Amino acid sequence: MTFENTLDFAKKLDAEDKLASYKKEFIFPKVNGKEVIYFTGNSLGLQPRSAKKYVDEVMEDWANLAVEGHFYAEKPWWDYHERFSAKLGKVVGGKPSEITVMNTLTVNLHLLMATFYKPEGKRFKIICEEKAFPSDQYMIASQVKFHGYTEDEAVVKIEKREGEHFFRTEDILAKIEEVGEECALVLIGGVNYYSGQVLDMATVTKAGHAIGAKVGWDLAHAAGNIELKLHDWDVDFAAWCSYKYMNSGPGNASGCFINEKYHGLKDITRLEGWWGHNKERRFLMEPEFQPEPNAHAWQISNAPILAMAPYLASLEMFDEVGMPALIEKRNRIVAYLQFILHEIDKDVDASFEIITPSKQDERGTQLSVFLHGEGKELFNYLMENGVITDWREPNVIRLAPAPFYCSFQDMYNFGQILKRGILKI
Ligand SMILES: Cc1ncc(COP(=O)(O)O)c(C=O)c1O
Repeated sequence: MTFENTLDFAKKLDAEDKLASYKKEFIFPKVNGKEVIYFTGNSLGLQPRSAKKYVDEVMEDWANLAVEGHFYAEKPWWDYHERFSAKLGKVVGGKPSEITVMNTLTVNLHLLMATFYKPEGKRFKIICEEKAFPSDQYMIASQVKFHGYTEDEAVVKIEKREGEHFFRTEDILAKIEEVGEECALVLIGGVNYYSGQVLDMATVTKAGHAIGAKVGWDLAHAAGNIELKLHDWDVDFAAWCSYKYMNSGPGNASGCFINEKYHGLKDITRLEGWWGHNKERRFLMEPEFQPEPNAHAWQISNAPILAMAPYLASLEMFDEVGMPALIEKRNRIVAYLQFILHEIDKDVDASFEIITPSKQDERGTQLSVFLHGEGKELFNYLMENGVITDWREPNVIRLAPAPFYCSFQDMYNFGQILKRGILKI
């Protein structure tokens, strides 16, 4: 499609947008009395209007039923977490039995590593990407230390080539092959938080398995953003936070995928608690742990129902719309944003560079823009003028037009504000 940098053209795209009506289902902050243009759904998604209703329902049940709410609430609390499995399974390409929701992301990755990082003899290394999200770096370093290794001996980082912004699949595969039988685990971010690059998870998972390693994915920037086929790709485990593209609210619960081939095993290592115990017998208070026959076996504590309620509200919308429709709109709106950025660059010689891959299957919603000229000042100008983006050192602005609530007019308006900002600074 040939795009135009005009308000009329942006309006035409909005008129063709089947998801346009969802914008009003979300609550936008205001700057100078006007709703903002929100580009940070990759950091914290907006609040769905329905979230409050779901939270209020729990508050009412708690007030009216107190402890009885565990069994007689509108949505009983004792198995509340099970409500997520089928719907989330559709979002990430897992069977319902392979999905559970609990804790928060880094905590879950630690818990999953208790099962999937089993260093033994000469197989003890973890392969990850260089400059992974800091929490992942700390987590992996602390895991190898926990098992008695130093970071230097046990953590192997895949590197980008000098002067390049993306990881090359061939380099990832070469590193996996090089480490070979010393590798216990490959654990990488499926969508890079900095550049927005989508990795070839199917190929990398296969390569990890070929050397006898387990393969897990941090899907913080992938869930609700890109097409995932965790079961078909034979991924061992994955976890994601829900407060970014999944719009569940700040710091909210994390989703986990645990491949069905690990369910029901007697000799598996796992950190356990009563919420993972056979749910029919959970309240019999028996001494011996009897795991649930599915991913819920990894649950530990009783579920934080108040926190989970908005996640459920948001998930209902994902289920209503489906990932294919979100991805279709995402592709169009990101392409339009890219076009607008290039137009502004041509107009005012802004000298910025998009460091996100241009191929559709190598990127999701996020475009990361490296500013060779104005940096923080431009970011501040955008924020003061109602465009919420985020800033990453040394000079990167990340823009993620979430398809649920961003419009094509937002992209056009953003371009105009950006142009004014560049001319002014
Ligand atoms: C890629 C990635 N991994 C891990 C985390 C940490 O998540 P949490 O604080 O929920 O553990 C984040 C948070 O933004 C992230 O973007």
